[in-house]
Amino acid sequence: MATGKEIAHQRCISPRCGATYSIDEVRVACAACGSLLDVAYDWDRAAVPASLQWFESKWSQRHDPLCFSGVWRFRELLPFAAAQHVVTIGEGQTLLLPSAGVAKYVGLTGGPLYLQYEGMNPSGSFKDNGMSAAFTHARSIGARRAACASTGNTSASLALYCSVTNLMRAIIFVGSGKIAYGKLAQALDYGALTVQIAGDFDDAMQRVKEVSAKLGIYLVNSVNPFRLEGQKTIMYRVLEGLRWEVPDWIVVPGGNLGNSSAFGKAFAELHELGLIQRIPRLAVINAAGANTLHELYERRGLRWNAGALDRGTIDAYYRELDRRQQRAETIASAIEINRPVNLEKCLRALAVCDGVVREVSDQQILDAKAQVGAGGLGCEPASAASVAGAKLLVEEGIIHRDQRVVCVLTGHQLKDPTATVAYHTTDQEMFNQVLGRRGVKRAAFANRAVEVNNDLDEIVRAIQLYS
Ligand code: F0G
Repeated sequence: MATGKEIAHQRCISPRCGATYSIDEVRVACAACGSLLDVAYDWDRAAVPASLQWFESKWSQRHDPLCFSGVWRFRELLPFAAAQHVVTIGEGQTLLLPSAGVAKYVGLTGGPLYLQYEGMNPSGSFKDNGMSAAFTHARSIGARRAACASTGNTSASLALYCSVTNLMRAIIFVGSGKIAYGKLAQALDYGALTVQIAGDFDDAMQRVKEVSAKLGIYLVNSVNPFRLEGQKTIMYRVLEGLRWEVPDWIVVPGGNLGNSSAFGKAFAELHELGLIQRIPRLAVINAAGANTLHELYERRGLRWNAGALDRGTIDAYYRELDRRQQRAETIASAIEINRPVNLEKCLRALAVCDGVVREVSDQQILDAKAQVGAGGLGCEPASAASVAGAKLLVEEGIIHRDQRVVCVLTGHQLKDPTATVAYHTTDQEMFNQVLGRRGVKRAAFANRAVEVNNDLDEIVRAIQLYS
């Protein structure tokens, strides 16, 4: 199979520019025009299978790490690396779980709602899909240090890949007090150099770009085009879980907009290669307190427009944010981002997938999260935005009740126990401190612990009363 430089290059996403670069170069933007880059392939020379079913042949070769990995068993669809460079720690063993309970909550009547559960990844979030691809590229060019800014999951993933593979030293930038404890705990335990910046994610992102350019450190944020190649495979696994049938809707939370961008690229390529006949619709869900994409796409009408997008609209909005000193603010800390670095790629994905964008409140997010916990696998707050968004779109009649819907659950429930415990607590002070100040008024689906004295009769009475 032809791989690597023979068939892959980096290409500016702006059709008017289209500058290309070798995959040996480390770039996070086009040198000519500053736009983002894609990894592009000369598909005519690649060994693309005739049908998606072909990938099932890998299931019987699970002893081979490249077939075991949920990323690399689709290697033919991201053929930028030679087999000996591939870095895998067994990522992508995920589940597409049908949930009748969540379907009911969302208002679907035609069958279950599917939850694509990325919490099963080694570091507990979807980031490992992208990290294994970024590490593969980093290894091929001999990088020794890697950095990211993070709301917690990218940093956990980077730290884990460094600790398991020993290929690079991890340097992570986090906003002080801005990441959930489960995620911070991972970075510290895995031994990453953790830089807590007095600021938020948007500040940290800006700084990590400057620092990595200055010190020549390999950047693994989703501006790295190789990372998004790995994240395409989330959609391949969704199709695999549906026996290669295309669903009607993919619903995904939007933060830095890497996932949505990767999904759009995945479907555009599959369609171009004739491996799917139809492209699903994409719904990207912002938290209302971090709603740049929603504001620009739905309220100000910003579109990809075949690459001729109106940058003035984006600049004017960011100036407004600065003037108002408006910072991103949501309980869904993973998506607490006002300046998503993949905005333009995401607009392209929305064009490819006839997409919509919605915003949901912290109240809607937490109620949806409780429903996922009660009828699914549990997830962190940001992930539940997808379910809350699907519910809203059903209520609006945009998603039809009989349609087949896949919500991506991006991160594990245990990432952010603080939010979960505060939702279910009987301690009003804790509720107010964690949630009340964010406008969350009630916990409609709370499962409250029963408090009893350490007394056998009392315990028995309580169990009889409540069970
Ligand atoms: N869900 C979770 C659990 C996340 O951690 C993130 C992003 C998103 C959704 C949003 O995904 O950026 O592709 O739109 N977390 C990043 C981080 C920003 O630093 O861990 P996106």
